[in-house]
Amino acid sequence: MDQAEILRDMKRMEERMNNGDDARSARTGRNAVTRVVAITSGKGGVGKTNIAANLTYLLAAEGKQALLLDADAGLANVDVILGITPQYNLCHVLRGETSIDKTIVSGPGGMMILPAASGIQEMTDLSRGQKLTLLDTLDGFEKPLDFMVIDTGAGIAGNVIYFNMCADEIIVVVTPEPTSLTDAYALIKVLYQRQAARRFRILVNMVRDGGDAQAVHRRLSNAVDHFLSLTVEYLGFIPFDENVHRSIKEQRLIVELFPTSAASRHIVGIARKILQEKAVTSDNGTIKFFKRAVIGDNDR
Ligand SMILES: Nc1ncnc2c1ncn2[C@@H]1O[C@H](COP(=O)(O)OP(=O)(O)OP(=O)(O)O)[C@@H](O)[C@H]1O
Ligand SMILES: [Mg+2]
Repeated sequence: MDQAEILRDMKRMEERMNNGDDARSARTGRNAVTRVVAITSGKGGVGKTNIAANLTYLLAAEGKQALLLDADAGLANVDVILGITPQYNLCHVLRGETSIDKTIVSGPGGMMILPAASGIQEMTDLSRGQKLTLLDTLDGFEKPLDFMVIDTGAGIAGNVIYFNMCADEIIVVVTPEPTSLTDAYALIKVLYQRQAARRFRILVNMVRDGGDAQAVHRRLSNAVDHFLSLTVEYLGFIPFDENVHRSIKEQRLIVELFPTSAASRHIVGIARKILQEKAVTSDNGTIKFFKRAVIGDNDR
């Protein structure tokens, strides 16, 4: 990163700060708290995208303004899961080719989706300038948001860490597979060292029952507690259910297509839990989104 780039970023930061929170809140009506929730995992293929999409749908169905941010720039698949073919994606926004309002699409139940670009190399490791553009862009979105659900990629690569750093709440999805646990541990450790969210929660997917899920959580939380002196809460579980696969094949959400299936009932329970609890944010979600992300960029 050269000096000119640093100066340009600093100038943009200055401008944002000088514009002030009040002016922005008045313009966007965004004085409410936006809960920024990341759905993440150490290992890939554990069910993040399915969970993120269904949760966002359920939050929207409850009358919340809920946006699903597809942050898995490597191989994005929110659009595939939902059977939509968006005209624009995050990549176009970051290149300045279109606006955020034209890029965000409506999904089922009134949920909003900010699609990612699939398999585009430049999107797999966002530069500092691109991250700032993204934050500017989200700030410029006119609708006040109650929830921003971020479907991150898997692992501990730059973008995954970055998007988790943006969140107030991090939901780590694990399965009973041993590698899923060790990879989750590695991710939590990196995020903890980077001082990410105050709230880490474990969601156990593809298990037989609650007993198995609690055992998985216990194994992970014992390690995290022992080595990091950190508590990871148990959020709940979603049983292994063939209907998940069937709904994905149909490009529909399971909670819409098979609302009484075991997996749907558990996803609904988790959405209820999230809706009932108080947000952990104490300040304006959007402003914090900005600050956190910048902090996340300051190698510390
Ligand atoms: N509860 C479940 N029961 C049965 N199959 C499931 C369940 N949850 C997810 N799956 C299956 O696991 C696969 C991966 O799901 P998904 O794409 O949501 O994972 P992911 O974590 O987003 O993957 P990636 O890391 O590649 O982005 C899908 O084929 C889906 O059908
Ligand atoms: Mg995914």
